[in-house]
Amino acid sequence: MDVLVVGSGGREYSIGLALKKDPNVNNIYFSPGNGATFQLGQNVKTEDYETLADFAEEKGIDLTIVGPEAPLVEGIVDIFRKRGLTIFGPTQKAALLEGSKIYMKNFLARHNIPTARYIETDSFEEASAFIDSLSEPVVVKADGLCAGKGVIIAQTKEEAKKAAEEMLSGKSFGEAGKRVVVEEYLDGFELSVFAISDGENYVILPAAQDHKRLLDGDKGPNTGGMGAYAPTPLINEELSRKIEERIIAPTIKGMKEDGTPFEGVLFAGLMIVDNEPYTLEFNVRFGDPECEVLMPLMKTPASELFMKAATKKLDELNIEFYDKYAVGVVMASENYPYGSSKPAEIIVDEIVHEELKEHAHISYAGVSLIEGKLFATGGRVLVCVGIGDSIKEARDYAYMLCGQVHFAGKKFRTDIAYQALRDKS
Ligand code: AMP
Ligand code: GLY
Repeated sequence: MDVLVVGSGGREYSIGLALKKDPNVNNIYFSPGNGATFQLGQNVKTEDYETLADFAEEKGIDLTIVGPEAPLVEGIVDIFRKRGLTIFGPTQKAALLEGSKIYMKNFLARHNIPTARYIETDSFEEASAFIDSLSEPVVVKADGLCAGKGVIIAQTKEEAKKAAEEMLSGKSFGEAGKRVVVEEYLDGFELSVFAISDGENYVILPAAQDHKRLLDGDKGPNTGGMGAYAPTPLINEELSRKIEERIIAPTIKGMKEDGTPFEGVLFAGLMIVDNEPYTLEFNVRFGDPECEVLMPLMKTPASELFMKAATKKLDELNIEFYDKYAVGVVMASENYPYGSSKPAEIIVDEIVHEELKEHAHISYAGVSLIEGKLFATGGRVLVCVGIGDSIKEARDYAYMLCGQVHFAGKKFRTDIAYQALRDKS
């Protein structure tokens, strides 16, 4: 089959890598793709989603897979479906689970799914009174999409009130912040759980852990994610069961009952407090860099998983994973996440070590091809992924590969998977 992947990041590159290995896949197209996706297929640039659907029709694309949230929230799935094209992802209405924090929190409350105690409001007085009723720190969230910046963990009530005021006045995030969620702070550890659903059935992928802060030891500012690994040993059978029974199953069922069945990747961002899972957020797509570590663990051909999910046949799928671990280390550019950096040429040493060749690879993200050479032009440039029989082995391969990649100003965390390895050495 021929597949179109929408997006341009490391996430889409890793989906492309999985499709490239898949015997059922002939041609792969990326829209818009990045400076390295040409290694896997062809890049396609179009003006809008209608034109992309024209392209899919003309080329006879059998399946379109959407990576990022923006096209989903903008309704790409509805446009493709209307034209009879097969596409993997949630409709615009279902994508509100990520597009609006208020919709998401109210959905959770309505279906009795555990989350932090909250109020949603557009009134500063209400926000302020609720802040006073909580203990510090306090969490304030803008309703709409804010490119990952709309969540403020305020250490003091005063700071929380200031954040709420700046959001509600439109000063911080414009329209996206004119309604806010104020919620209690949950103190635990975070997990990313991904379920693929066809609206009715679902499969759950191995649990992953992201590292959102820029610096080692979870210090520094929040980023899109500096590294991930899976499966994580921080989850035990009992916790897995609770996550499925209390969060994933009722969400899929609730979305169906609400008349907005959820098809696509349900990404539950969870906080685990005393072995109890709470939903912090939903995303309606794969995490990045979580996708880069999940794709190589899949034994089931990627096309089969996505096609069955897009055609309501997930009940026929017996999903299988390799009995391995994957660790992904993000290499970012000099000024990330504060601003853009000067393009820097990327040199990858020739890998002579056979074992490394076999157990590690790069998923390219913020890169451009300039006069035939690969340059780092984005914030998160690439992800070095290692695969091994243990987390430690996978991590060692990932870091060995990092040592072979060079570009001016490169930076990366040196402690990815530390929570899993803390008690072992
Ligand atoms: P969100 O976009 O809602 O996932 O929030 C971004 C990050 O803020 C999360 O990954 C958590 O690290 C943190 N966060 C959000 N809500 C809470 C909360 N209620 N308690 C503690 N940390 C939170
Ligand atoms: N890595 C977190 C995200 O993709 O939102």
